[in-house]
Amino acid sequence: MSSEVNEIRLPEITEILYSEEELHQAVSSLAQRISSDYAGKDLVVVCVLKGSVIFFSDLVRELDINCTLDFISASSYGSSTVSSGVVRIKTDLSTDISGKDVLIVEDILDTGNTLYCLMEYFNAKVPSSVRICTLFDKPSRRAKPINADYSCFTIGDNFIVGYGLDFNEKYRNLSYVGILDPEKCK
Ligand code: IMP
Ligand code: MG
Repeated sequence: MSSEVNEIRLPEITEILYSEEELHQAVSSLAQRISSDYAGKDLVVVCVLKGSVIFFSDLVRELDINCTLDFISASSYGSSTVSSGVVRIKTDLSTDISGKDVLIVEDILDTGNTLYCLMEYFNAKVPSSVRICTLFDKPSRRAKPINADYSCFTIGDNFIVGYGLDFNEKYRNLSYVGILDPEKCK
């Protein structure tokens, strides 16, 4: 079933980078690391909507620790594939994170504009600790001094979709992650 889904090739997807199985294995081993690092603590795991929703859902179900879940949504003004650097909080946290250990879960760390702003926003609430967990890291495009504490895959300067990541809100539901050629979407 899952391999059938992975075999559906859309013409605008030029390459499948990570299969459902590869994603699952990476998320499982990351969950083990996080569980061991936060053993005995109460962790607030924050999903940055919408791109990290599938990664987040898979990750938290494999955590072997006490945790609470929260959600935030931030948008960066700009075109579909280029971040502008101006970030706005659209949906806010519903819990008080002051004095708590917080793990921000993001789909991809690209220019770093979003997470840089989110870190400032979170730190202003004086949590006990804040760390960044991202599924993908694109270090070649970084514009802000920010790094992930946890990351599954480091990728090159390609625009990727699937497993939560979108182009104009499409492709989030793909079970794999592929490289998109935006020119072929026109
Ligand atoms: P940053 O602020 O430039 O680090 O980018 C953060 C957001 O841009 C991510 O959370 C994604 O929503 C989006 N983004 C960056 N690169 C990609 C990509 O290759 N595919 C899909 N979305 C991306
Ligand atoms: Mg997005």
